Amino acid sequence: MDSQRDLELVLQSRTPIVIIETRDESRVLEMITSITVGRTKGDYLPLFRWTVTDGLQRLDISLEPQMHNSDPDDVLRHIRAVTKAGVYILLDFHPYLENPVNVRLLKDICIRYERVSRQLIMVSHRVELPTELESFCARFEMTLPSARERGDIVKRVSAEYADQHPGTVVQFDPKAYGMLVQNLAGLTHGATEQLARNAIYNDGAISSSDLPGVMQAKYDLLNKAGILHFEYDTAKFSDIGGLKKLKQWLSHRKTAFRTSGSNDVLDTPKGVLLIGVQGCGKSLAAKATAGILGVPILRLDFSAIYDKYHGETERNLRESLSTADIMAPCVLWIDEIEKGLAGRGGETGTTQRILGNFLTWMAEKNSKVFVVATANDITSLPPELVRKGRFDEIFFVDLPRSGVRKSIFGIHLAKRRQDADNFDLDKLAIATRGFSGAEIEQVIVSALYAAQAQQKSLTTEHIVAESQRTRPLSVVMKERIVALRSWASERTVPCD
Ligand SMILES: Nc1ncnc2c1ncn2[C@@H]1O[C@H](COP(=O)(O)OP(=O)(O)OP(=O)(O)O)[C@@H](O)[C@H]1O
Ligand SMILES: [Mg+2]
Repeated sequence: MDSQRDLELVLQSRTPIVIIETRDESRVLEMITSITVGRTKGDYLPLFRWTVTDGLQRLDISLEPQMHNSDPDDVLRHIRAVTKAGVYILLDFHPYLENPVNVRLLKDICIRYERVSRQLIMVSHRVELPTELESFCARFEMTLPSARERGDIVKRVSAEYADQHPGTVVQFDPKAYGMLVQNLAGLTHGATEQLARNAIYNDGAISSSDLPGVMQAKYDLLNKAGILHFEYDTAKFSDIGGLKKLKQWLSHRKTAFRTSGSNDVLDTPKGVLLIGVQGCGKSLAAKATAGILGVPILRLDFSAIYDKYHGETERNLRESLSTADIMAPCVLWIDEIEKGLAGRGGETGTTQRILGNFLTWMAEKNSKVFVVATANDITSLPPELVRKGRFDEIFFVDLPRSGVRKSIFGIHLAKRRQDADNFDLDKLAIATRGFSGAEIEQVIVSALYAAQAQQKSLTTEHIVAESQRTRPLSVVMKERIVALRSWASERTVPCD
């Protein structure tokens, strides 16, 4: 296998420290053992494994762990003192790199490598090496399984299932098999096998009903930082009144998004920015986009990526974006993007870099990740974000006009099991001039309570009475909405 050959070359390169960042520890151990054990006599080296719980253990010949070397500085002193060459795999040593004594001991071992070649392989999910050791170190990246390898894993797990259940064959829907192999992309060997096992062992079959579970489990495995959220309840576009142009724009791009390949004339759609008045359906439209494109939706919590440790913030963003790339095809929803990008006190430098990193990712991404960002406060929206070409389009979501208000009434009355034919929708539309969709919904809810208190069924009059009691935001915040509209008229496309 290629990654094994690459690792072999790194191990042969006579670098005193090799770092492997991975969550697939057992596979790394397997690979290193098979490389070292397979060496010819002259090159043969003893192989050890260390953990803080078990201490040192010889791997190439079967020996019990030696508990007395479990202390990190004990084991380093021991390795420094041995006079024979060897390979030492240190599992999860990363927390102990903060201790200056350990750093010096490591440096001693490295400096004397020419005399006694003791090679240290550090395997952890993440290793920050102190700068003084950098020049002694090589990093090895584990490659993730290719499509062919993933297919082999699925077939091997199926065969294993059949072995354990004599007389059964795993039911194989070829289309679902193809989708499964595609959806397992981006995971380690161990995780691929685990998810394939879940999918096959629940019912002895590979069918399309396994796919949502696989996507959910995959997302759980990838989203270690908790910054992305898998949204279960996506909306349908029929849940939204108005936004006709946005709906049309998306449905024209649906096929391009699903089927585009590298040699197409049209680029894969990148995403849209929805700017508009509060409560008019931006968040709802973001969720419905996933419905129209027929893909899962991930919500990126932009304000959660900020970390008090300098540097971690950028890493958080990078990891979240690469998780989205791995989950593709999907919608990446960034709600209220301006909140995550507004200058955060003394951290404007970080915010600037975060914005830069995000825009670079948007510009360079080839993956089928369709970004839907929403914003309602234009005063804190960085100008770079609304520059032409960042998003495919910037839409303005305005207060609903009369016809749209009628359809919003239709939708929300039906949601509360009311027959819209029993209401005078024209009258309702007139009574709610200047209302947002959210306010219309609220008026229906309040009117239902009022009707219930009178032990009557809901009527047009109940709703009209409630709407007269409401002062919509468009009245309360008139200036702001006027300013927003005039800003939008130059920079955005109306949704209706
Ligand atoms: N056009 C619409 N059609 C149907 N329902 C709507 C519409 N606009 C708003 N609503 C109702 O109002 C609720 C709130 O709307 P939503 O959260 O999508 O607005 P928003 O534009 O994201 O507001 P904010 O700027 O406050 O985040 C929705 O869940 C929905 O029930
Ligand atoms: Mg919203």
